[in-house]
Amino acid sequence: GRVAVLMGGTTSEREVSLDSGRNVLEALRARGVDANGVDGIPNLVRELQDRHFDRVFNILHGGDGESGVLQGLLESLRVPYTGSGVLGSALALDKVRAKQVWSAIGLPTPRYVRIPKEAGAEAVHAAARELGLPVIVKPSLEGSSVGVSRVFDEADLDAAVELAARYPGELLMEQLIEPGGATGGEYTIGVLDGRALASIRIVPAGEYYDYHAKYVADDTQYLCPGLDEAGEAEARDQAERAFAALGLRGWARVDFMRDRDGRNWLLEANTAPGMTSHSLMPKSAAALGVPFEELCWRILETSMP
Ligand code: DAL
Ligand code: MG
Repeated sequence: GRVAVLMGGTTSEREVSLDSGRNVLEALRARGVDANGVDGIPNLVRELQDRHFDRVFNILHGGDGESGVLQGLLESLRVPYTGSGVLGSALALDKVRAKQVWSAIGLPTPRYVRIPKEAGAEAVHAAARELGLPVIVKPSLEGSSVGVSRVFDEADLDAAVELAARYPGELLMEQLIEPGGATGGEYTIGVLDGRALASIRIVPAGEYYDYHAKYVADDTQYLCPGLDEAGEAEARDQAERAFAALGLRGWARVDFMRDRDGRNWLLEANTAPGMTSHSLMPKSAAALGVPFEELCWRILETSMP
């Protein structure tokens, strides 16, 4: 059948998605798949009406493409697609809801306070004091670190909230897990068809793994696998349970922090993770002997009914 590689769209991650999409498209074509790129959901709808495609490889990042909205549309049209369904996508895109589900079944995630957009400064400062500084303030629905601030000083809190509030959805204020010790820091782990791949330890050259370190800098270090055998087994088990708890399907990437005492704390799950040359999902798969083309093929296979 013909495959639409759905990319681009109108979110803050549009450029990242176009980059991911071009890579996926090239890989699928190299595998002999009859695939074409489609930019955004409205164009996809037109193409589907004209019966140009019978399957969708979704690589839209954020917004309607990763929130369950696209998934509901494709379900109702009976068009098979890669990745998670309506509920899983909705839960994973919303960092607050994902944390609520994980907490409810005892999976570790940093302490947090949900901040509605209309919350006043008093409530925001009370939340920060309750968590204890430093905290990290994020828009609940964005990706790629867009709108994220780390706050070490209460004087910087209002600016952090104001920045995050420019994006859709409510805000998440979370206890900042600071790196330190032998293995503390930021990690991620790919999941393919419910099975965890290798963990990656991310060592940014600057202080943080922000948008620049993610997509522009060439001096971010990636250690993969990021942990020793026992640490790897634990992280993979947690990632698989985090994936299952949200009802995810096909593929995803689970991000977590490891503290200075060697405990892991789940941050979020991405149901259409980046597939750029800088991205982590391809590295997580490659470390287990799954090259990029095969990874794309196997993701496509998970969309088969
Ligand atoms: N949201 C970006 C694309 C990622 O998780 O890789
Ligand atoms: Mg994300």
